[in-house]
Amino acid sequence: MNANKALWEKGDFTRLAATMRESGDELIESVGVAKGMEVLDLGCGDGTTAVPSARRGANVLGVDIAENLVAAGNARAREAGLDNLRFIEGDASRLDDLADSRFDLVVSIFGAMFAPRPFDVAKEMVRVTRPGGRIVMGNWIPADPTLVAQILKISAAYAPPPPEGFISPVTWGLEENVRERFGAAGIPPAQISCERATYVFRHPGPPSEFLSTFRRFYGPTMNAFEAAAKDGRDGQLQSELEALFESQNQGGPERTVIPATYLKVTVRKS
Ligand SMILES: C[S@@+](CC[C@H](N)C(=O)[O-])C[C@H]1O[C@@H](n2cnc3c(N)ncnc32)[C@H](O)[C@@H]1O
Repeated sequence: MNANKALWEKGDFTRLAATMRESGDELIESVGVAKGMEVLDLGCGDGTTAVPSARRGANVLGVDIAENLVAAGNARAREAGLDNLRFIEGDASRLDDLADSRFDLVVSIFGAMFAPRPFDVAKEMVRVTRPGGRIVMGNWIPADPTLVAQILKISAAYAPPPPEGFISPVTWGLEENVRERFGAAGIPPAQISCERATYVFRHPGPPSEFLSTFRRFYGPTMNAFEAAAKDGRDGQLQSELEALFESQNQGGPERTVIPATYLKVTVRKS
C-alpha cells in the first residue's frame, strides 16, 4: 500500500479546497500566469490554482497522487468549459511520463511538500521546467503559530509515530531545506527566493463547523482522530483544535475567516 496516496484518498480534500479558492486565484494573479504558458500544477488537488491558471489562458496539466481529486479536477474543468486544463494521476517524486524542460512554470501549493523523498521532488520539478522558466511552491512552516502548521503539529501528536526514515512535509517550510534541496538539483543560491505569505481560509459558517469539515474530510486530521479515539483522547483532541480554530478566526461568531502563513518559494532555472 502507498501510504502517501492512501492518506489523500482517505477523505475528500475538495471540501477544504472550497474554502481556499480566493487565495488560490490571488496567488496565480501574483505569479503572472498568462495566455499560452505551459503550466504544471503539482499536487494540484481539484484545481484551486490550476483552474485560475487555465482561466488566464495557460495550458495547464494538473498532477496529483489522489484518484478522487484528479476526477474532481477533471469534472471542474469540464463544467467550466476549460479544454486547456487536464488532470492526471502521478507522484511528484517520480514524474516519469513528463519530458524534460516541458513547462514554463511549475506551481505546487501545499502539494509537492507532501510527497516522500524531497530531494527527488526538487530534482523532478527542476527537470521538467524549461531553462528560463520558474517553479513556485507554497509550503506550510513548522512551528508557525497559524492554522495549518498547528493542525499538522497537533494531529501528529495524537497519530502513531511515523515509519522509520519519514521526512516531515513541513521541513519544506524552512528556507535552509529549500535551498539544500534545490541546490542539489543544480539551482544556484541566487536563483532561489523565499518569503512569508498568507493564504486565507473562508467558510460561510462558524469556526466549529469549519473544524468539523477538517475532522470529517482532511486525511491527517481524520487519522489523528482515529488514533486518539483508540485511547479515549478524541475529546481532548477536539478541544485542542476548537481552541485553535476559535483563536485564529477573524470572521466573527457566524463566519470563518482564518489567515495562515506559508513560505512562498520562487526558483528560476537558467
Ligand atoms: C493540501 S492538498 C493541496 C491541494 C491543492 N494544491 C490546493 O491548493 O488546493 C495536498 C495535495 O497534494 C497531493 N499529494 C500528496 N502527495 C503527493 C504526491 N506524492 N504526488 C502528487 N500529489 C501529491 C494530495 O493528493 C493533495 O491533493
